[in-house]
Amino acid sequence: MLTKNQLDSRSFFFEIAPGADSGASGFITLLAAAHALRNATQNAQPNRTILYTFFQGETFDYIGSSRMVYDMDNKHFAVDLDNVHSVLEIGQVGLRADSKLWLHSDPVSRRNSSVNEEVRKLIDNLQSSATGLDFTVQEPNASQPLPPSSFQRFLRARPIPGVVIEDHQSSFSNRFYESMYDNAEYLKVTYPPNMTPEEQLEFVTDTAKALTEVATMVARALYKQAGGAEEQLPNINADPQIVTQMLYGFLVRSNNSWFQQLIPSDFIGHLKDSPTNFYIGVHQQSSEPTLLVQHLLANLTGSTMNITQENCQNQREDENDKESKHLYSYMWVQGAAPTNSTKREGYCVRSTVRLSKALSPAFDPLRDFTSKDYSTWTESRWKTIKGRIFLVASHELEMLTLGVGFGVLLTSLLLTYFVSSKADILFSSGREPTNATY
Ligand SMILES: *[C@@H]1O[C@H](CO)[C@@H](O)[C@H](O)[C@H]1NC(C)=O
Ligand SMILES: *[C@@H]1O[C@H](CO)[C@@H](O)[C@H](O)[C@H]1NC(C)=O
Ligand SMILES: *[C@@H]1O[C@H](CO)[C@@H](O)[C@H](O)[C@H]1NC(C)=O
Ligand SMILES: *[C@@H]1O[C@H](CO)[C@@H](O)[C@H](O)[C@H]1NC(C)=O
Ligand SMILES: *[C@@H]1O[C@H](CO)[C@@H](O)[C@H](O)[C@H]1NC(C)=O
Ligand SMILES: *[C@@H]1O[C@H](CO)[C@@H](O)[C@H](O)[C@H]1NC(C)=O
Repeated sequence: MLTKNQLDSRSFFFEIAPGADSGASGFITLLAAAHALRNATQNAQPNRTILYTFFQGETFDYIGSSRMVYDMDNKHFAVDLDNVHSVLEIGQVGLRADSKLWLHSDPVSRRNSSVNEEVRKLIDNLQSSATGLDFTVQEPNASQPLPPSSFQRFLRARPIPGVVIEDHQSSFSNRFYESMYDNAEYLKVTYPPNMTPEEQLEFVTDTAKALTEVATMVARALYKQAGGAEEQLPNINADPQIVTQMLYGFLVRSNNSWFQQLIPSDFIGHLKDSPTNFYIGVHQQSSEPTLLVQHLLANLTGSTMNITQENCQNQREDENDKESKHLYSYMWVQGAAPTNSTKREGYCVRSTVRLSKALSPAFDPLRDFTSKDYSTWTESRWKTIKGRIFLVASHELEMLTLGVGFGVLLTSLLLTYFVSSKADILFSSGREPTNATY
């Protein structure tokens, strides 16, 4: 059981790739669903394991997902491709029209009856999970091909049952796909005037409420898909407060009091008073969304440990417990400062969150630089785009300048004429012989 999502986005200007609907709407929904499932999966572990994945470099020919599928296929990953039961991908879900979401599947792999049956089950499951929520989910025309998605890379390897959730039926509802205008305003993440940043962080927008509903459906469907107990389902609900804080953090300002608490102190310089840039490139700034999502996922799915900073940073909770040492990762985060103090009280978070490099298999290990199967995108130059602005003088001043110019020209013409016509008087000869040589 795998659920996944794209992390990055693209635009003409590499500094401004807000990817609000194309990236953020989906991965925020998945993070909220993961959070909603924390208690349910801890209380009653379902039969199948749910693996949440967030891929980088998807906009450049699916670098992240093609790497993972390659590793899974070659048994270099924690999970083999054979052990993936089904895939649920959350695409663009921020702009649903007429309260409808669309469940896209692949008509080619569904020609296989056993795959078709599993896809059918997953769709029924999602549809029943959406009952009681303020939207409906529908299937597009069965012959319609699967839209661009990371799931394509899995289907390339073998027919795996899966569904991609999108806010469009056939053509994108997102008119600013991979553009600098796919931003918070386009997703209607706006706040009443005169709010402080702290109030904005907490303010639950309508977009947050809408995405919370989607996250609730995703969480319930995942739980059922993983074989969880039916009677648990009503207890699984996503938290609109968490969703609104994530929307604010990624689309408005990553340097906010909540994100500051969740990250280690050496990462604090990466937070900015502007929207997160999801452009992926060789420039180191592009790792910012990865690290933020890593620490958010740890906070939302992990647990806090009462251990010292030194033990935490050495990834060691209990020397004797070899099992958990390899299973969990430990992160020391800044935490909040108590009310009348300025010193933050850090703590240790234990989670099963892992990072894995999204490097195209074409470069390593295949070294096939003309690969037709894997991404071979490179950056040939790194140059900032610059513009210069000049002030234009007022019309009166321009006319005055022109007039004065003409005046000076006429005066000098007159003066020259006068001087040359009276030259014999002004420069009277006779004092110096014309044939004088020097
Ligand atoms: C359908 O797919 C499954 C698993 O991928 C495979 O084992 C089976 O042979 C396929 N069935 C047909 C009719 O191709
Ligand atoms: C589905 O699409 C096919 C071809 O694109 C078309 O012939 C068919 O009428 C469509 N079915 C429905 C129910 O829209
Ligand atoms: C982030 O916000 C804090 C105040 O909360 C401020 O002191 C700090 O300078 C900001 N960092 C950046 C990089 O703007
Ligand atoms: C997550 O962050 C909140 C505060 O932002 C904190 O209260 C909570 O303990 C954290 N949980 C984990 C598991 O780190
Ligand atoms: C954390 O552990 C210390 C000693 O190991 C103990 O004194 C303290 O009460 C514990 N704190 C919590 C919140 O459990
Ligand atoms: C912090 O402030 C509270 C009241 O606001 C006060 O009761 C408490 O003693 C203060 N703690 C310290 C350590 O100053």
